[in-house]
Amino acid sequence: MRRRRHADSSVRKPAAVLLVGIFCMNVSLTAVRADTTSADEAIEARVVELIGQMTLREKIGQMVQITAPGGVPEDLRNAVAAGEIGSILNVVDVDTANELQRIAAEQSRLGIPLLLARDVIHGFNTVLPIPLGQAATWNPELVERGARIAALEAATVGVNWTFAPMIDITRDPRWGRIAESFGEDPYLTGQLAVAMVDGFQGDDLAAIGTIAACVKHFAGYGASEAGRDYNTTNIPENELRNVYLPPFKATVDAGVVSLMASFSDIDGVPASGNRFLMQEVLRDEWGFDGLVVSDWVSIEQLIDHGFAADLREAAFKAADAGINMEMVSRAYADHLAELVQEGQIGVARIDELVAGILRAKLGLGLFENPFTDPAELPEIANSDHLAVAREAALQSLVLLRNEGGALPLDADALDTIAVIGPMADDPYEQLGTWIFDGDPSLSVTPLQAIRDMVGERVEIRHVRALETTRSRGTEGFAEAMEAAAEADAVVLLLGEESILSGEAHSRANIDLPGSQVELVHRLREAGKPVIAVILAGRPLTVQNILEQVDALLFAWHPGTMGGPAIADVLFGVESPSGKLPVTFPKMVGQIPIYYAQKNTGKPATPETWVHLDDLPVRAVQSAHGMTSHHLDAGYTPLFPFGFGLSYAQFSYSDISVSADVIGMEETLTVAAVVSNDGDVAADEVVQLYVRDLVGDVTRPVRELKGFERVRLNPGESRTVTFELDAAALAFYGQDMTLITEPGQFHVWVGGSSDTDLRAEFTLAGD
Ligand code: BGC
Repeated sequence: MRRRRHADSSVRKPAAVLLVGIFCMNVSLTAVRADTTSADEAIEARVVELIGQMTLREKIGQMVQITAPGGVPEDLRNAVAAGEIGSILNVVDVDTANELQRIAAEQSRLGIPLLLARDVIHGFNTVLPIPLGQAATWNPELVERGARIAALEAATVGVNWTFAPMIDITRDPRWGRIAESFGEDPYLTGQLAVAMVDGFQGDDLAAIGTIAACVKHFAGYGASEAGRDYNTTNIPENELRNVYLPPFKATVDAGVVSLMASFSDIDGVPASGNRFLMQEVLRDEWGFDGLVVSDWVSIEQLIDHGFAADLREAAFKAADAGINMEMVSRAYADHLAELVQEGQIGVARIDELVAGILRAKLGLGLFENPFTDPAELPEIANSDHLAVAREAALQSLVLLRNEGGALPLDADALDTIAVIGPMADDPYEQLGTWIFDGDPSLSVTPLQAIRDMVGERVEIRHVRALETTRSRGTEGFAEAMEAAAEADAVVLLLGEESILSGEAHSRANIDLPGSQVELVHRLREAGKPVIAVILAGRPLTVQNILEQVDALLFAWHPGTMGGPAIADVLFGVESPSGKLPVTFPKMVGQIPIYYAQKNTGKPATPETWVHLDDLPVRAVQSAHGMTSHHLDAGYTPLFPFGFGLSYAQFSYSDISVSADVIGMEETLTVAAVVSNDGDVAADEVVQLYVRDLVGDVTRPVRELKGFERVRLNPGESRTVTFELDAAALAFYGQDMTLITEPGQFHVWVGGSSDTDLRAEFTLAGD
């Protein structure tokens, strides 16, 4: 049996950082790239030239990022003019941005412009759904368009660098930062990450309106133990390489300008001092020659981690690991010079790190034009931008339950609708986490959109019922009950406010907070159809309301245009088409739970798992269900990854493979027929999963390897095809190299990760 070892797994010196040793004075960099274009060559020549002119102080200045959200005070002006600052965070006023760039370009000795950074995570003034919601669209093209409008809006104030996309794989919905992520799957995350990077950076990074992307947090932050933010992670190297790193590799291959180090540690080494991650994997294996920025004060935090004794040692470890730029803390500014002078860090190392920063600035075209003229950019929040935000919100909506076809509502058949709940009419809270520049005055709330949809004829009775999602009182319930009793249908807008997810906002209990569950149960008593819409930054454990509602629509935090998107789905203007990018657990104790799990030596089956209520007393241990499950939760989630209902009826059939046996050099085509047996046109996300039955290391029971969003009219059928080659089947084995092994594979096609439409093929050795 011969297996294929893939070249990019082996440790190699990348062409991009091959240095030809011409060392004169403090010039230690002459870059020669075998595979460069003339534009790259021009940039490399400029990098060498600049570094040759820079003093050590100026080089270190480039490695310093400060935060300066207000104006241009004297000390800032002087520091920029002295070349002591490479990047400024949080400037969002165009006049300030232009003034700072003018000082850098015209008053500093070498005229090196500034990187002006901002967290543009899911939109700027126009807010798109949170990234987890965007992931539910399974639509890379739409994610790219969203990032494009975010870049255009951010660029109007002089921002040229965003700290997005966040591409941490996370399998823990307690972690508040799951909201910023694309969910649990490396393949889906990789596809959407590349799309978002492309949206920000465009085809031409130097063009007006494109900004540099920064993938974060490198690496493994999403595995924070217990879902508690900033916590330790425990990720074996094999899992790191097979699950957490692939999206980063995909964006590096796609030309992302920068990466951000994670706050977390791996195997006892915090990312900001982690040479294995920053040098061996990122530079030596992947050939990245761009910019790595620390996270906020994360170099100083090497001291809190107990990894550095003081700021000086922190500076040494971070520079040695390969962090080009320090965000906010002052380890580099205050200690790098002395470390170089004492010979602990070579000038060549500093030059390499500075080169990564200069490449970013040159690639952005900042030397040619560092200034911003908003008149050259489209207006903020114009109708095109709002249309993209609306489409993204629409495609992000996941229908989780629809008993008896409760949805869509027929506006013509209703006289009164009760719209109830704390998330019905809150322009701020529908925007989600990380919306520094989001403009709530642009928001169209669900209540407003429902009113616009049904017009004057239908009476809307709006009752907030609970002041916030966390309110524990029941004082507002009587009015809500009365409204429900008089209505033909109840639309409940529930969830969690934006502040309950995001950085440092993890939860140990992910039920609907406050008295919301009780509110649902009470409203059920009115005997009217109850439609629940949940706006939240993470999966919630909704088993405790599921039977009490006729329909459940999961809307994430849908952004500026969340209201119209929700109304379109509630009233059947469009069918819901979002699919879960993350598994929904029945209860918090199941976490971590994800579809791409290992089979284990004792996999559970419907026959072998027993509920604790069914266990007899004084039972002999080995007589009952000796398989991998929880006595009180079984082994399946509430809703699997990839799941989402539609108003259409999609069926799958006729799965086939182009060959029963393929060679290592061949490509397999997997085909299946998807049909719309319903009576409305709708989008469906067709998904391809693979299982490698036997491996050098155990392989997941299923792995997503392809997906496609298709639109089908009633009665229409389409054959959807996917291609699989040896690279698509590759994984890291015991020796941490990327391999594809001959053997047997199963493939599935369907509308969710639990599809059972299966075919098989064999991959033959060469
Ligand atoms: C976060 C980063 C963010 C940075 C700058 C940190 O606290 O972890 O994701 O980009 O702040 O705002």
